[in-house]
Amino acid sequence: MAAPTRSFEEIDGYIEDLFTKPDDALAQAVKDSEAAGLPKINVSANEGRLLFLLAKIAGAKRILEIGTLGGYSGIWLARALGDGGKMISLELDQKHADVAARNLKRAGVGDKVEIRVGPALDSLKKMEIQNEAPFDVVFIDADKGNYPAYLEICLKLVKSGSVIIGDNCLRNGKVLDAAGDTDLMAIKKFNERMATHPLLEGILLPIIRGSIDGVAISRVK
Ligand code: SAH
Ligand code: DHB
Ligand code: MG
Repeated sequence: MAAPTRSFEEIDGYIEDLFTKPDDALAQAVKDSEAAGLPKINVSANEGRLLFLLAKIAGAKRILEIGTLGGYSGIWLARALGDGGKMISLELDQKHADVAARNLKRAGVGDKVEIRVGPALDSLKKMEIQNEAPFDVVFIDADKGNYPAYLEICLKLVKSGSVIIGDNCLRNGKVLDAAGDTDLMAIKKFNERMATHPLLEGILLPIIRGSIDGVAISRVK
């Protein structure tokens, strides 16, 4: 296969210029997250746009996000919610949650988003017990070692037609040679489950994020 004639960054920028508009709330969310010392690991603008579109296509009224960080992906997802829609976003770190709450409020979606602080697995178990399901869209983007466990429990929180999305599923190809690395092996297991679970029909797409990462997308049958 021929090498690309432009860098990944240029190709990603071409798509971003075509399909996304400059956006003060998103730009300020990135700035404030950086100023607060949060890691720069939010989704790209193009992936945010993809999340927004998937949630819109799914007609999402209830969204579940695992891994809030500074609320960047959350702004994209919450903007896809119609009137009365709600998103619950799970975050371990109180400081991340505080930064995210400010960013989401500034973006005008603060009243649609509830951030729950604590280990996501605990929050998810509570949600299952308290019958908070079903969610129309689930976005998994927290600690990679728990991806398989997140998927198993999320399968109990969805319904037919729901969409489950996983971020960081290729890691510049490192997932193909995962042996010896617990996080990479967990992502590999997650990908296999997304591909072969009898209740799911999905795909794993490469996505540019500096280098190549992957976004896994499955629909619940
Ligand atoms: N979705 C965000 C990025 C999330 S980064 C965006 O694109 O804007 C991953 C986040 O998961 C971090 O904020 C980290 O604190 C959080 N996290 C890590 N382990 C967690 C756990 N066990 N439970 C909940 N959140 C966790
Ligand atoms: C990392 C985590 C992410 O969710 C991401 O999108 C990129 C990087 C990380 O932990 O390195
Ligand atoms: Mg991610």
